[in-house]
Amino acid sequence: MVGLAIALGLSACAPAAPTPTPDARPTVTGIPAPSQSPTATPTPSPEPTFDRGARSIDDPASLWVVANKLRPLQPADYAPADLRAADIPYVYEPVLRADAAAAAEQLVAAAAAEGIALAAQSTYRSYASQQRVYAGWVAQLGQEAADLTSARPGHSEHQTGLSIDFSAVPANCTLDQCFAQTPQGQWLAANAWRYGFHLRYPEGATPVTGYEFEPWHYRYVGPELAAELHETGIRTLEEFFELPPAPDYAG
Ligand code: DAL
Ligand code: ZN
Repeated sequence: MVGLAIALGLSACAPAAPTPTPDARPTVTGIPAPSQSPTATPTPSPEPTFDRGARSIDDPASLWVVANKLRPLQPADYAPADLRAADIPYVYEPVLRADAAAAAEQLVAAAAAEGIALAAQSTYRSYASQQRVYAGWVAQLGQEAADLTSARPGHSEHQTGLSIDFSAVPANCTLDQCFAQTPQGQWLAANAWRYGFHLRYPEGATPVTGYEFEPWHYRYVGPELAAELHETGIRTLEEFFELPPAPDYAG
């Protein structure tokens, strides 16, 4: 009997083993406990760094292209290859590059789900179309004022198929700075980055961008760059990519 108990590892007189509490760590012998020294320095996890050179800022077909008064699109008559109509409410037919169109559809649907009704006011404009738009502003305002509000042909982001001017439904402060105070303007300012869009001409940045505040003009840069701009608080592509300010055309 005793032999059997020994063989089974039992002992009639051994105290019952204490029941471990659920969070008790098993005692491991032979392995030194980790140092509890207050001088122990935790290994820092490396900060993920954003690669600002991951895409071209010169290629007009790049999602990160920077066009401004000092950086004309090259070639000046560039036209994107993957334009399509976005399935969103519009004033003028909303034509964007494929990725920007898909992102605009998601953005407009998300806004609508929160009771914010948006429409596309203006999207892709060809070189010829920008020529007409710019000439119209010059006729209306004169060249100096027109240059603060409209890009000359070959310099407009609208020609990349990546920019969209939003308007409110029903129309309210269309292409007017008071759009910033509308529910639509405020929703866009808070949320457009989540869909890869960036407010390209922010308030107070005219000396950098060359244009007055356009709270309706959003540029698709893709979700990674839009999030990085949002997180860093850097307000213009010129500053983010450490480019010279572009208040005026050269010459
Ligand atoms: N309104 C912007 C600057 C454009 O014409 O592209
Ligand atoms: Zn615009």
